[in-house]
Amino acid sequence: MRAVTGCGCFKLRERVLVSLVVCAASVVSGILITPAAGGLAHGVSAAQTASKRGAAGPADARVASADSSRGAFLFLRDCAPCHGKTGDGNSRVRRTLHPKPLDFTNFEMTDSFILGALHQGVPGSDMPAWHSSPEKDLVEVAAYTARLAHPDALSEQDQYAPPAALEEAGRRVYQSHCARCHGANGNGDGPDARRYLPKPPSFAGMRPSLTAAQRVIENGVAGTPMASWPLLTPPEIQAVTQYIRSFYNEPAARRSAMPAPR
Ligand code: HEC
Ligand code: HEC
Repeated sequence: MRAVTGCGCFKLRERVLVSLVVCAASVVSGILITPAAGGLAHGVSAAQTASKRGAAGPADARVASADSSRGAFLFLRDCAPCHGKTGDGNSRVRRTLHPKPLDFTNFEMTDSFILGALHQGVPGSDMPAWHSSPEKDLVEVAAYTARLAHPDALSEQDQYAPPAALEEAGRRVYQSHCARCHGANGNGDGPDARRYLPKPPSFAGMRPSLTAAQRVIENGVAGTPMASWPLLTPPEIQAVTQYIRSFYNEPAARRSAMPAPR
């Protein structure tokens, strides 16, 4: 496999489009970009791979009900010790956890994605299942957790790139490098997904902010099969980020009156 070296270095916004096209072309022409060796490939037994991570759980219909102070109380009691009071992952124990707890301020999540994590935990990680909590409480705390995200406004640069070219470039990068784990349609069900724990999440259920996605792609998620991709160029990262964000199944009636706590 050969690494792409020729399509990286651009500094000026004017050159982004050109780079995108060049990079897309290099991907089309079959040159493979490999991730850093950092990713762990745990072999896991078939028994451990029972269910898909982030697969559709109970319907997303249940929008936060009136009593979200209950959700806040539950979050502070049950989740904040690991995920931090504001949900940004900055808890005292974060360094002892495997992997680092998800930063809820940077990931939008559907209620069913969160409930799936509460029902099953995240096998292969320190995220526990909450079998002994009443379902009603899980629904409340999931609704509260979902409102911790601060979705980002599109940057100036995103507005410059034409959506069609960006999408095509993103699709190329995604299908060549990400789909084998995350699935052709982002559902976390790629052919290699069963080999790993924790499993790749479904992008239908979670949407990273632009900065979080960039950070994950550049650094990987330490201690998981999600490797870093140092050879992807900035325009490729931008394109694939937009592409994975487009899989998100945005709940219609999500952000109601309740502002996210700070
Ligand atoms: C013992 C520490 C711990 C506690 C307590 C905890 N979590 Fe987690 N949680 C984690 C870790 C670690 C991860 C990261 C798992 C990963 O990325 O593989 C995580 C991930 C998650 C995710 C993302 C799931 C996914 O598939 O990516 C959600 C949603 C979540 N936690 C919700 C909660 C909620 C809600 C609570 C409180 C009811 C809670 N967690 C309590 C450690 C914890
Ligand atoms: C070898 C399988 C594999 C490949 C290939 C892969 N991923 Fe992942 N990815 C994972 C796993 C496993 C996780 C869950 C990490 C965790 O538990 O925190 C993940 C998580 C993520 C996340 C969410 C971060 C989080 O904390 O859960 C993003 C964003 C992501 N991947 C993007 C990508 C992109 C973009 C590509 C292609 C350039 C890609 N992945 C390729 C396995 C893979």
